[in-house]
Amino acid sequence: MPRASSILSSLLYLGSVFAQDASTTSSTVPTGTPVPGNYDGALRPQLHFSPPKGFMVYNPTADVAGNQHWGHATTTDGYTFENQPIALFPPNNETFVFSGSAVVDANNTSGYFPGQDNGVVAVYTLSNNTSQNQNVAFSKDGGYTFEPYEGNPVIDIGSTQFRDPQVIINTDQDLAHSN
Ligand SMILES: *[C@@H]1O[C@H](CO)[C@@H](O)[C@H](O)[C@H]1NC(C)=O
Ligand SMILES: *[C@@H]1O[C@H](CO)[C@@H](O)[C@H](O)[C@H]1NC(C)=O
Ligand SMILES: *[C@@H]1O[C@H](CO)[C@@H](O)[C@H](O)[C@H]1NC(C)=O
Ligand SMILES: *[C@@H]1O[C@H](CO)[C@@H](O)[C@H](O)[C@H]1NC(C)=O
Ligand SMILES: *[C@@H]1O[C@H](CO)[C@@H](O)[C@H](O)[C@H]1NC(C)=O
Repeated sequence: MPRASSILSSLLYLGSVFAQDASTTSSTVPTGTPVPGNYDGALRPQLHFSPPKGFMVYNPTADVAGNQHWGHATTTDGYTFENQPIALFPPNNETFVFSGSAVVDANNTSGYFPGQDNGVVAVYTLSNNTSQNQNVAFSKDGGYTFEPYEGNPVIDIGSTQFRDPQVIINTDQDLAHSN
């Protein structure tokens, strides 16, 4: 397992593994094993990352959008990537995991990572036909698997268009302690 603090060790990306069939349900998405991909095709990029299957980034104008999960790949050099099992799953068949971001909680600031310095906090949008809201999940194994926060959603303004939270670590100790 790559150390979470190493540069470019991990890539969490938004993908839809069975995008051709929007009715395909979460239960058909493999868990605990990487989605297989054919990397030998003539037009397949060999440098940097491409997902094993489906589309890399949500496309709001294309009919293939649907069933979004967060995929996961690891690298030690930033050029070649190893596909890992899907990291973040939606809570049900009608909800998709849209974009967001993740940080390593090296100092247990969240309180969810006693005794470890490689906990990962993901903040992401969940979307269904009637709303989008922001959610949090914690990974105690360096980003391989995530447990959703029991208090989700953490931000919900009752909107159908409200997404893509970008989270940063605030290392300014004065600011961190002032609240
Ligand atoms: C999704 O739907 C399938 C059947 O269509 C069902 O077997 C499965 O349990 C559902 N999954 C969830 C998370 O609701
Ligand atoms: C992490 O935070 C939790 C909650 O504040 C606390 O109980 C635990 O002792 C902390 N662990 C470390 C190693 O700081
Ligand atoms: C999805 O739909 C349900 C009921 O229609 C709603 O309560 C929920 O907040 C919606 N939004 C998300 C992102 O799950
Ligand atoms: C969500 O909207 C799509 C497109 O209109 C529709 O096919 C699907 O049945 C809807 N899902 C639910 C749970 O209402
Ligand atoms: C962790 O705490 C140390 C000591 O207070 C600080 O220097 C460092 O910036 C913190 N790192 C993060 C990621 O919060």
